[in-house]
Amino acid sequence: MEPDAMEPHAMELSAVVTGAARGIGRDVVTRLRAAGYRVVAVDISPDVTSLAGDGVLPMVADVTSAATPTEAVALAVSSFGRLDLLVNNAARFLRRPILETSDDDFDSLFATNVRPVFRFARAALPALVESRGCIVNTASISGLIGVPNQSVYAMTKGAIVQLTRQLAIEYAARGVRVNAVAPGAVDTEFMAEARAADPDPGASLAVTLANHPIGRMSTPDEVARAIVFLAAPGSAGITGTILSVDGGYVAR
Ligand SMILES: NC(=O)c1ccc[n+]([C@@H]2O[C@H](COP(=O)([O-])OP(=O)(O)OC[C@H]3O[C@@H](n4cnc5c(N)ncnc54)[C@H](O)[C@@H]3O)[C@@H](O)[C@H]2O)c1
Repeated sequence: MEPDAMEPHAMELSAVVTGAARGIGRDVVTRLRAAGYRVVAVDISPDVTSLAGDGVLPMVADVTSAATPTEAVALAVSSFGRLDLLVNNAARFLRRPILETSDDDFDSLFATNVRPVFRFARAALPALVESRGCIVNTASISGLIGVPNQSVYAMTKGAIVQLTRQLAIEYAARGVRVNAVAPGAVDTEFMAEARAADPDPGASLAVTLANHPIGRMSTPDEVARAIVFLAAPGSAGITGTILSVDGGYVAR
């Protein structure tokens, strides 16, 4: 029988996770440690240093910096001897009507949410070919369907969806799998901060919950488990997939 996705994958695997200081990324680090990975945990927030030790090397760095992807991959390979998994998870949210969205909003969101995903993949792929490893990107339901007032954020997530499919095809024959998760609303500070900026946070929460057939947001750990599932050896037949973790949102 194949190993269960939630069982330890192997004791010597290594991963790079971006956006690891809080929210989904932090739970990904916890789940990966439980599955036996050693992790380079990248975040612009110094809070990521609280993950230090027990197989986790924190790296305080801005993913928009050109040097960060190569430095993170080099740290994983020099410290752990290999790289098996890249989790491209760092992003910023922007909920804003298009008529109020500036060129600077557009450029800065693409600089944070899209270009680092491309650069991290480009930096990691040579090591992932050697290990026959994989990439899991954090996309969003906003990259799959239309959601009001998210034009630029949705475009960034759509770009990630398409890069996922593209790299899955480009690297399938070289043994590297590339998948993404597409969360609906997840109960993290990311969502809480977005809601706090709404004129009526209570009404905004009610709309969010009504849009999710399960009647609640997902937890960050539920998304983390889906990411670890996609990385698992038992998921060797899965590549180019966008796995919704959205309580039924896009199924309606
Ligand atoms: N929370 C949701 O409802 C939701 C829904 C769909 C998709 N997502 C996606 O899930 C991922 C994680 O979201 P979350 O809810 O955990 O968010 P979060 O804001 O709680 O965590 C994001 C982390 O990314 C880090 N980060 C942001 N910009 C960075 C930069 N330039 N360099 C390095 N680190 C940076 C932040 O410091 C933070 O620790 C994101 O890709 C987000 O788009 C979230």
